[in-house]
Amino acid sequence: MDDRMILVTGGAGFIGSNFVLEWIAQGCGPVVNVDKLTYAGNRGNLAALEGDARHVFVQADIGDRATMSDLLQRHRIRAIVNFAAESHVDRSIGSPGVFVQTNVVGTFELLEAARAYWGQLAGTERDAFRFLHVSTDEVYGTLEKNDPAFSETHRYLPNSPYSATKAASDHLVRAYHHTYGLPVLTTNCSNNYGPRHFPEKLIPLVIHNALGGLPLPIYGDGAQVRDWLYVTDHCAAIRRVLEAGVPGETYNIGGWNEKTNLSVVQTLCAVLDRESPRADGRSYAEQITFVKDRPGHDRRYAIDASKIERELGWRPAETFETGIAKTVRWYLDNQAWVRSVTSGAYRNWVAEQYA
Ligand code: NAD
Ligand code: TYD
Repeated sequence: MDDRMILVTGGAGFIGSNFVLEWIAQGCGPVVNVDKLTYAGNRGNLAALEGDARHVFVQADIGDRATMSDLLQRHRIRAIVNFAAESHVDRSIGSPGVFVQTNVVGTFELLEAARAYWGQLAGTERDAFRFLHVSTDEVYGTLEKNDPAFSETHRYLPNSPYSATKAASDHLVRAYHHTYGLPVLTTNCSNNYGPRHFPEKLIPLVIHNALGGLPLPIYGDGAQVRDWLYVTDHCAAIRRVLEAGVPGETYNIGGWNEKTNLSVVQTLCAVLDRESPRADGRSYAEQITFVKDRPGHDRRYAIDASKIERELGWRPAETFETGIAKTVRWYLDNQAWVRSVTSGAYRNWVAEQYA
């Protein structure tokens, strides 16, 4: 336990909220949680921390440098963990501007605030300060079937506005280390899944649609491959990198779990058939529907997570089977949460996207 505060951005979103809840539950110390509360951010994700003095929530934009500087100074922040981002590839295709604004300009403003703050620290406070930037494997582009998995030295070849803006932010973070010496860490993680995942992404969307008797939309032929990691494994990896990662280094994080989209959806249907059978006794798999492919759809992502295992001793604790079972159970037990996030705005998005 370190009683100095860390600043988490985007901590009302999917991964950020899981990270904050675990950080506090494990007694790692207090948190200032900055989130703009876009459509993807939800105060309800943090309901368990209501009234808890170890959690200070601030609704703000990471691009608001003055507010970020003030928070860093006021709370004597020892580390920043930057989750805040626009994160959905499909939305980035229709509206790339907000991705540039938050993922690139927002990260830049946050880096500037961090650089000024860190610059006036001294001694052990200065040595211990960290800026951990949470990024994605999508910056590396797409792989062919038999290509080796992405290592940390793979070329950056982003293909969507989402991944291009994440790549740009990674480059800025890197430059702040090389130019100014800011003690940064970058993590590039594969696809996460688990509790509190917004139902615009494949796994929660399929669970939500299945239970609602709606089509389960599979883009193109469904043979695209993603490398799935249970969200608490990602959070554990971030804690480990924060604790022991070498400033200036990047760490790839993945689950060693490559699956085609079709097999992910079939697995979900099988688990749902068991845990919450359809009233007519038939399989949810009957709801699978192949729809128009995503433009520029990356064929395969796969992470080589051997560096973080070798250097920091991290490995995922969950298999895909245990993680999916926990995820389905969470959604079955938290239908009120699902109802609260599938508002009018969500329904408009779904109507437009799957028209
Ligand atoms: P999310 O969309 O669920 O949450 C993002 C959060 O950031 C939301 O709470 C939102 O309100 C907040 N936010 C957005 N713009 C902001 C701004 N300008 N200022 C402050 N807050 C803002 O995303 P997620 O899936 O939890 O992803 C978190 C991070 O992890 C992102 O940086 C993403 O690129 C990265 N990542 C995600 C995955 C994945 O599979 N979900 C995999 C690898 C990396
Ligand atoms: P997604 O969860 O959006 O994550 P990402 O695009 O960041 O990998 O999508 C995961 C995979 O599932 C991706 O290949 C696109 C596909 N997909 C579908 O087939 N149907 C859907 O309705 C969605 C949302 C995604």
